[in-house]
Amino acid sequence: MCGIVGYVGGETSTRAVDVVLEGLSRLEYRGYDSAGVAVGPGMITQTKKAGKLQNLLDDLEANPLPASRNSIGHTRWATHGGPTDENAHPHLSFDGAVTVVHNGIIENFFDLARQLEEQGITRVTQTDTEVVAHHLALRLKETGDLTEALRETVGELEGSFTIVALAGSEPDRVVAARRNSPLVVGLGDGENFVGSDVAAFVGQTKRAIEMGQDEIVTITATTVEIQTFEGETVEREEFTVDWNADAAVKGGFDTFMEKEIHDQPTAVRDTLLGRMSETGSLMLDELRIEESILKRIDKIIVVACGTAAYAGHVAKYAIEHWCRIPVEVELAHEFRYRDPVVSEKTLVVAITQSGETMDTLMAVRHARDQGAKVLAIVNAHGSTIARESDAVLYTHAGPEVAVASTKAFVAQITATYLLGLYLAQLRGNKYSDEVLTYLEELMAMPDKIADVIAREDEVKELARSMKDVTSVLFLGRHVGYPVALEGALKLKELAYIHAEGFAAGELKHGPIALVEEGQPVFFIVPTPRRPLLHAKVLSNVQEVKARGARVLCIAEEGDDAVAEFADHVLRIPETPTLLHPLVSVVPLQIFACALAGEKGLDVDKPRNLAKSVTVE
Ligand code: G6P
Repeated sequence: MCGIVGYVGGETSTRAVDVVLEGLSRLEYRGYDSAGVAVGPGMITQTKKAGKLQNLLDDLEANPLPASRNSIGHTRWATHGGPTDENAHPHLSFDGAVTVVHNGIIENFFDLARQLEEQGITRVTQTDTEVVAHHLALRLKETGDLTEALRETVGELEGSFTIVALAGSEPDRVVAARRNSPLVVGLGDGENFVGSDVAAFVGQTKRAIEMGQDEIVTITATTVEIQTFEGETVEREEFTVDWNADAAVKGGFDTFMEKEIHDQPTAVRDTLLGRMSETGSLMLDELRIEESILKRIDKIIVVACGTAAYAGHVAKYAIEHWCRIPVEVELAHEFRYRDPVVSEKTLVVAITQSGETMDTLMAVRHARDQGAKVLAIVNAHGSTIARESDAVLYTHAGPEVAVASTKAFVAQITATYLLGLYLAQLRGNKYSDEVLTYLEELMAMPDKIADVIAREDEVKELARSMKDVTSVLFLGRHVGYPVALEGALKLKELAYIHAEGFAAGELKHGPIALVEEGQPVFFIVPTPRRPLLHAKVLSNVQEVKARGARVLCIAEEGDDAVAEFADHVLRIPETPTLLHPLVSVVPLQIFACALAGEKGLDVDKPRNLAKSVTVE
């Protein structure tokens, strides 16, 4: 995630920068760790600042950029390279001829950087984006045309990207390319725009064109020309944006939470992107732990809070199964203030979206004091926990705005799978072809999540029918257990309804006393391809059904046995057992969100809660 804006107008004025900055302010939800803006008449001039957009605005107030006809800007959510002034976009080429902003990940940037070094061009930032600027400048020298130069450059890139560029020699145009990352064009009167989404320009125009995959657009004040990466001209239909500015920021959804639920396939896909080297080993973003140490570890302790802790529960099942290393999962605040058995052979895995949760930070410090190595799974680059850990595996969920975590959760689970597979391979528990098979199954998950989201209307209908319930139970076994805990947490957080999650086997040891006529009970049903586990859950279903419960099952397509006992079945696609949480949690998120909406509650900002809890 990152936010991108580009603009070309007919007159040389300060409007170019003003429009871009207004666009950036609307795109700040896409990233807010640094921002920058450039203008391009003659010599390119640009300003970029780490931190929130306001830092950039303050700087520009003191040192305004020159008047211009074109401008590009960027608000960043770091992937490669921490959130610093240097790593902020735009990135200027070695000769100052072009500057670019980028959203996405250039997977082959090491190769491209090597090619540049052979020509004596060295990088000055840690970003993957910078190499694009240098390659573009080299192509511009050869072709003398920015569009052609960008077309040739994108042919060399692997990964996902939206790139917007301007050249000092071409003050009347902005050029942009799109592969696997969003890009829309805004059509004005004597001016045109490009942006990551319509929020970038909705304050200026409602007329827009959606760019297709692998296409390049050249905008001037009066023209918009689109071509494929192969250079064929493309005609695209114009559409009218019927969102107001507020809705545009939420991608047309009423709430950030709904938007973030819909972002989940992308969050998982991006977290998987570019992780494996050719030899099949996982690449951690910042690795300060030697392989020999990772080979020696004899215990993993996951520390986290809230939803992140449930991601840790899922990790336990996967990592123990794949790596044969004992995994404990502990709430960070409990870990910190008891006397945990930790040694130099312990790997502590801290999972946190924000990287700032004080309880988790204290656990990290405590673990390191005891001699353990800490690996953090973090979403926010440059955050305190990322900085203080020995290694970081970043999730690429993009900024999560809604207080209740959704897309960060599935990205965290995905990252723990990657960690498990990495350790399994490193320690020789799995052959590389076995690791590859699991990876292929993981790669299929974004489409499966999208499949579940596509059935959201059925879940919303169910939520509507339950808006007056006062208590809901959630039951699951194996990896379905943490999903049950998360389903209950979501309902508590969002709809203020009493909800409990239990391991289904524990039912008979107490919770079954809660079941009376009409009590809603959700079951997370495992795949029938694990017959023993499946049969046990079905027995639990029958136990509550016999006591009058209203049984709601989340079960795989084709699991006909469930239908006999359930009052309602929400279907998910067939999925390998360990990967189930990535799909089975989705209906529960949609359910809690819809039920809270039905009760007229503020889904994005539930009462008493904060997104990032920086006190103990
Ligand atoms: C708060 C939020 C939760 C989140 C938890 C951990 O309690 O309300 O949604 O799961 O913190 O946050 P972290 O940033 O460490 O993942």
